Order: sequence, then structure tokens, then C-alpha cells
Amino acid sequence: MKIKLLPLVISCVLFTSVSQAQTPSIHLNKAPAASEAVWKDDSKKMDAFIDELMAKMTLKEKIGQLDLQAGKGQLTGSYRNKGYAKQIKAGHLGAIFNTVGAKQTRMLQEIAVEETRLGIPLLFGYDTIHGLKTIFPLSLGEAASWDLEAIEKSARISAEESAASGLHWTFAPMVDISRDPRWGRVSEGAGEDVYLGAQVALARVKGFQGDDLSKPDTIMATAKHFAVYGAAEGGRDYNSTDVSERTLRSVYLPPFKALVDAGVSTFMTAFNDLNGVPATGNDYLLNTILRDEWGFEGFVVTDYTAVEEMVDHGFAKDSKHAAELGLNAGADMDMVGQNYFKHLEASVKEGKVSVATIEKSVRRILEMKYRLGLFEDPYKYSDIKREKKVVLSKENLLAAQDVARKSMVLLKNDNKALPLSTDIKSIALIGPLADSKADMIGSWAGLGDRKTMPVTVLEGLENKLGDKVKINYAKGASYNYKGNTNKGFGAAMVAAKKSDVIVAVMGESEKMTGEASSRTTLTLPGNQIALLRELKKLKKPIVLVLMNGRPLNLNWADENVDAILETWFSGTMAGNAIADVLVGDYNPSGKLPMSFPRNVGQIPVYHSMKNTGRPFSDDLKGGAWNYSSRYENLPNTPLYAFGHGLSYSSFDYSDIKLSSNTMKMGGSIEASVTVTNTGDYDGEEVVQLYIQDLVGSVTRPVKELKGFQKLMFKKGESKQVSFTISEEELAFYRRDMSYGAETGDFKVFIGTASDKNKVAKFSLVDK
Ligand code: NOJ
Repeated sequence: MKIKLLPLVISCVLFTSVSQAQTPSIHLNKAPAASEAVWKDDSKKMDAFIDELMAKMTLKEKIGQLDLQAGKGQLTGSYRNKGYAKQIKAGHLGAIFNTVGAKQTRMLQEIAVEETRLGIPLLFGYDTIHGLKTIFPLSLGEAASWDLEAIEKSARISAEESAASGLHWTFAPMVDISRDPRWGRVSEGAGEDVYLGAQVALARVKGFQGDDLSKPDTIMATAKHFAVYGAAEGGRDYNSTDVSERTLRSVYLPPFKALVDAGVSTFMTAFNDLNGVPATGNDYLLNTILRDEWGFEGFVVTDYTAVEEMVDHGFAKDSKHAAELGLNAGADMDMVGQNYFKHLEASVKEGKVSVATIEKSVRRILEMKYRLGLFEDPYKYSDIKREKKVVLSKENLLAAQDVARKSMVLLKNDNKALPLSTDIKSIALIGPLADSKADMIGSWAGLGDRKTMPVTVLEGLENKLGDKVKINYAKGASYNYKGNTNKGFGAAMVAAKKSDVIVAVMGESEKMTGEASSRTTLTLPGNQIALLRELKKLKKPIVLVLMNGRPLNLNWADENVDAILETWFSGTMAGNAIADVLVGDYNPSGKLPMSFPRNVGQIPVYHSMKNTGRPFSDDLKGGAWNYSSRYENLPNTPLYAFGHGLSYSSFDYSDIKLSSNTMKMGGSIEASVTVTNTGDYDGEEVVQLYIQDLVGSVTRPVKELKGFQKLMFKKGESKQVSFTISEEELAFYRRDMSYGAETGDFKVFIGTASDKNKVAKFSLVDK
């Protein structure tokens, strides 16, 4: 496994000394190597075992290994197969998903292992996205922590719960870069940025797969959705995508490539077509890039019914044709649709698919079963005792609470509205999300309970404050798009009138986020803003606690409320974590992983945009028309920039010191700042490094994130924070599509957000 470590040097100036884990950088175009660290196989032994097994398999048994069916438990798409027990008994089924539980999986595994001719164990998969039963914050929320250790821990715990419940495989992480908050699935990824996206993806895979896939508490991860799903036109789910080769390789592929290098076990194809070719039948993506260029050794599964959807795409004439296109393109396993199972035997007879192609895919799947250790002990994951002990353990719940606190982003905090003063005697807790258990855990929340377990904000504040503070709760408004009356406003006003401060918990319903949940507006839905307007008339401090799965349009709130705390959907322990932050037991440290636009018309708005030939200017020269790249009615900047996030403390940044103003090709320089906690609280700060290449053989973004460090600063503490800049941070796809840096001038920015930083300049020169 080749992961280059980018050295991050931190030295202490005044008080303490900190050492920081090294952050792996992203390799875009290096020859990959097998992932020995995770897959501890003796490949000769494995090859011999699989050769022998495959020699005994009939063609039908081989094709069966390529079939993945949805279990009876849960529906994560609109169609499911029935009656797979017969197929297992015949030895014609390779894998099942959506059947969870040590007992249930063991029952089916026994049929596969003990009642079939060859006893090949089944694989059990599931969408453990941000937790199995202990639910962590929504993936986008977790990314907002910029805390790679916390993210890895969340994935580790999710893997432990899944593995104890009979699962071998999660369909996560989703690593689709997206710059369109209309798309509901931005909630499942890590946001707009390539570098942050790859780092978060790596942490998740490390957490799921651990350092040894054969251990009974590690599971296979899936890099999905390959590729460019996040660029769906208009932000409408499943929509077509069209991106240039340069954008494909510079923006959408790097997180996937980083995961191949880190030994991710499987890939999932995307639903969309890319430049006219559906991703599931896309030989260029699956064979040329993934296998030939990157040397991926795991297997590729399609998304749910994505094979036959190639018929609707107008790419295949029927499901048999679709099966042939999918398999030949490199999609090894067919999810749900059974197109391979029904048609491939005939396709072989007709010469449309070769036995060798089928065998290649079968081998990849058997190899992963072997690496999981299933041929040695097919039942080691289905352990009822372990399941009872591990799932929803107290430690897991506490860890979920901690990750939830770390994921929250303080967007605004005027008049020191937060943390709530200890003088406060009463709180008006208002809003449709203040006491809604069903919404707390968000979309794609595994088997998370939505009825009793999730802690709401009302409960969290009661747990925290007991009788010391009176909480006057009223739902007040609704987040539903339609059918709202303002009947609840009266009770909300009564509650607010008798309280010292108003805490409004508002946002989206969890159903408005995730798959098939695109929106054309980003304002707070329903009559929530109307209620806030009424509350505002009382002239009391208003704290807005947001729950949502995407960037929202918060213009009104930004102008009218005192504080805004973005909490996403923060999981089973949401209410306790939010209470921790509201009262100041935890000082918020999250930073936005996606820009929050001022309105939908600005989309896409992201920090690594290009300058254009007529950069934005507000200057209406002599009152004449302004011919710069701008909107008539709004600035180009987002309301809240990528990387933005306040703290209860404040941090001062010194000017940047460079170890040299020139860097030689092949060399490196250090860029350092001294950061001082100048506020009244201990707190963490994410120190962010951005770079701009001023002139290139192709136009370059105005800045790109190239590193970050999340560090704790005690009150009054200063630390020198240093980043090493090498060619790697300056490299890009040049005019001729070769990858590397070009000599010339660069700007380096270090700061607290993409729009608030110090700047220095250096030049890259030939050796
Ligand atoms: C469809 C989704 O796109 C994918 O992300 C998920 O893993 C599968 N359904 C299985 O539930």
C-alpha cells in the first residue's frame, strides 16, 4: 500500500507542545500497489484455493456469485426480489443485503454452507452509512467536524456493530463531490472539496476496514458512486452528468483514487450517465481507469437495479443487453435486478459474453470472501453474544454524542448569545424539530430507532438543566411544504413571552434529505420563517438551532437572529450533544464542508472557483454598467463560506512566515503562522491551508484547500502551526493532461476559513 505521508510540523511557542497525526495526501496518478496492510493474504495460497474451487463450479454457480439480492428486512429502493432461499439452496446466490442480525444471517449462511454442493459462504451487505443502531451525525455533518480521528472512530464503531450483527460489507463511504445543495444526497458525502473529501473518505475506510479485513470486527467498505453522481444536472437526483476529462480527473475522481490506494474492498457504480454513457456500463470508468490505470483488486457492485436502468437510459435494448453491457464494462456484481442471473448463460452461448469475463468477476468476489476469512469460518460475524454486547453499548452512545458535538458549526454568534448565560431562568424552546424523535437521526440511518431512543433537544436540555431553568416548549410551526396553518404561533408566542431567551429548533424534515430528495428551494420549509418573524417582534434574544442535510439559504435568519448553530441531523444522542454546546460544556469547533449560498440562483458556489477574465467587482465605474462576472442583485460570495465556523473563543493569526520565498522543483518549503486563542474559552480551531497557482498552462482556481490541522488551544495559548508545501500540493492536470506542477508564482493562504486568511507569495523554480 502506498500512502505518502505529508509531514505536518507543529511547534509550540508559548505553552504546550502538540504532536499531530500525519495526514495522508492524495495520490492522483501514481501506480497503485496491492493493499497488503488490509488484505493480509498469502496470495499463492488464496489463488490455489480459488483455482480448485472454481474448477468445481458450474457456469450457473459462477453466475450465481455475481448476484446480490435484497433481503426481506428493509427496502432501500423501489423493487425487491422474493424467495431467494431456494436460490441459496441451489448454490446460485453470492450475496444478500438488507438482512441484518446475527441470528438471521446465520440461518441463511447455514443453508449456503451446509446445504449446497460446494458450501460457498454468502456475503452480507448493508448500508451502514452513519451508524447501524448507534447513529452518528449525518455524513455531511461528520465531515463538518474536520476531525479525522473522530470520523474514523465513528466508522470503527459502526463496523463493530455491523460485524457483530452478521454483516461483512457496508455500502459506504459515499465519496461523491458535490457543489449543488439542491441534490438531497449531499447529506451522504463530505461536501464540495476534493482534498477534504478524500481525507474524510480515507478516515471512514480506515474505520470500517481496520488494519486487517479478516478480523471479525472489520467489514469491507465501498467507494460509491463511481462516478460523478454528485454533478447531477440541476441537482435532480439520478440526472445526467456531463463533465470534461479535466474536471473528471481533477474534481470527481481523486477521492476514489485515494481509496483504491488505501485498499478499499469494493466499488459501487453510479446511477447516472456520464458524457452519454451510463456509469454501470461504462468501460472507460470501470475497466480503463479503475482496473488498468489504478490497479483496483476488489470487486465492483452495481447500484440498485442500475443494470436494467440502462434500458431506460436508452443505452441497452433490453435487460439481457444491459447485463452484457454491465459485465463486459467491468461491473462484477448485479444488485437486485438479477439481470446477470437470468441472462448471462444465454449470452455466453451467443458469444456476447465470454466465460473468461464471468470468471474474472467471480474470482474477484471469491477473493474478497477469502480475505474476510469466510472460507475458514463462515459464522464468525454472526455472533449473538457479541451482538448483544456491542450494539448500542454505553461507550458507543457516548462516542456518538462526542462526534455529534464536534460536528456542529456555529454560523453566527452576535451579542454573545451563546453559550446561554447561567443567569437565564427560562428558555422558550420552539419549533417542529425541538422534540421530534423521528427526525433526530436523519436519512440513511441504518437500523437506528426513531421512536424511543433518540434524544431530542427538549430532552437534552431537561437532562442538562434539570429544575434550574424552566423550559417552555411549543412546536409552533411546521416544516411541511404544504397545508400549514399558523395555529401554533399563539402557543409559541405565549412560551416566548414568559422566557428570557428563545431557542428555535428548525430546519428540514429528515425525509427532505438523502436519496430522491432534491429540492428547488433552500429556504426553511413550511411556516418556520413566518414564526421567526413573529417571535422577532418580542425583541428577545433568538438562537436558531438548525437541523438539515444540506446548505440552506439563511439570509433572513442571518440578518435577524442573534446566533445560528448548525447541528445537521446529529444522531441518537442529538439532544444531549446540542445541549452540551448550547450551555458551553462543549465549545463548537466545526467548519462548513460546503458553501452556504445566498440563494438558489447562485448555485454552484464553491471556494475553488476560477477568476474569469472579468473577475467580480462591485465598482460601478462612474455609475456605468459593470461588465464584471457578477449578479445584478447579489455579491458572488456565499453567505457562509467553505471552512467557516465560529467558536465561543476567538483566534488570532499572525502573518505567514515562509522558510523561503522560492521553492525548487522536487523540494519543499514550510509555511507557518502563530495562532493565539485570544478569547475566554479553551477551544479547538481548524487551521486551513489554501494555495493559488497564479498562472498556469490552464486556468487555475482562486484557491484550493491543501491541508488543515485541528488543534486544541487553551485560553491564551499560542502555537506555531506549520505546513510543508511540496510539488504534490502544487500539482494539477496540465494543458496536455500530464500531472505535475509548473514553475511560476503562487499564493499561500492560512486562516480560519476559506474567506478569512493571511496571504504570502512564493515562486516555484526549476532545480
Ligand atoms: C441505492 C443507493 O443509491 C445506494 O447508495 C445504496 O447503497 C443502495 N441503494 C442499496 O441500498
